[in-house]
Amino acid sequence: MNQYLIAGNWKMNNDIPASKQLIKEILEQSNFDNDSVEMLVCPPFTSLLTVGEMIADVNISLGAQNCHWESKGAFTGEISCDMLKSIGCKYTIIGHSERRTLFHENDIDINKKLHSLMKSDILPIVCIGETLQEREAGQTFDVLKKQIDGSLNEVSNDSIQKIVIAYEPVWAIGTGVAATVEQVEEAHDRIREMIVEIFGSNAENTLLLYGGSVNESNSQELLGLKNVNGALVGGASLKADAFISIFNNAQKLSQ
Ligand code: PGA
Repeated sequence: MNQYLIAGNWKMNNDIPASKQLIKEILEQSNFDNDSVEMLVCPPFTSLLTVGEMIADVNISLGAQNCHWESKGAFTGEISCDMLKSIGCKYTIIGHSERRTLFHENDIDINKKLHSLMKSDILPIVCIGETLQEREAGQTFDVLKKQIDGSLNEVSNDSIQKIVIAYEPVWAIGTGVAATVEQVEEAHDRIREMIVEIFGSNAENTLLLYGGSVNESNSQELLGLKNVNGALVGGASLKADAFISIFNNAQKLSQ
């Protein structure tokens, strides 16, 4: 039986009324009885509490989109992992390409966030992925390896199962042009090989998500690939119908 994680990254969208409306529509339309597919929503910080309260009694998980690695102190504008834990976050996305590009985060920062999340008992979703320029230069797998080595530095072989990796080619994010099935298959197979080589057989169970223009139409094919254990969905996670249809495709494949 396949296991899937279908994660919605709302990015900087949805104030509290819009967050409530989206969750209301998701709750009305979905059936969460299937334990092998987990739905995760990652709203902006300001909606975490409200959304968390609305999903408290159903099988939907809550996640944040970022965190700081320090536990407290003079870090204006930042949010600690313990704060996220206290508000009910089970997961947190780190290393998203928008944060790497727009906010100049590097693998050292991402690695510090990862260890801080693990200390707070939150599951990190670590995003990796190449730019179009890197793909065209034939550097895709070197880039992925460098990002894996850097962001997962000093992770133990036991802990690798508590980390989720999202492969998100930068050129496919928000563009409407997802990677092809062949490109996703090749990248996910290589990522699996890389992590098994570093962390041993425990890494066979690490969830690998694909992200980048996942939608109702392409999700079934992508989720059907051997080393694709879920999706990190941006744009389509803002529409209840689209997000649920991706979730339902995973439910079908898990049976
Ligand atoms: P997208 O975003 O689905 O809108 O391409 C994915 C992401 O950024 O995680």
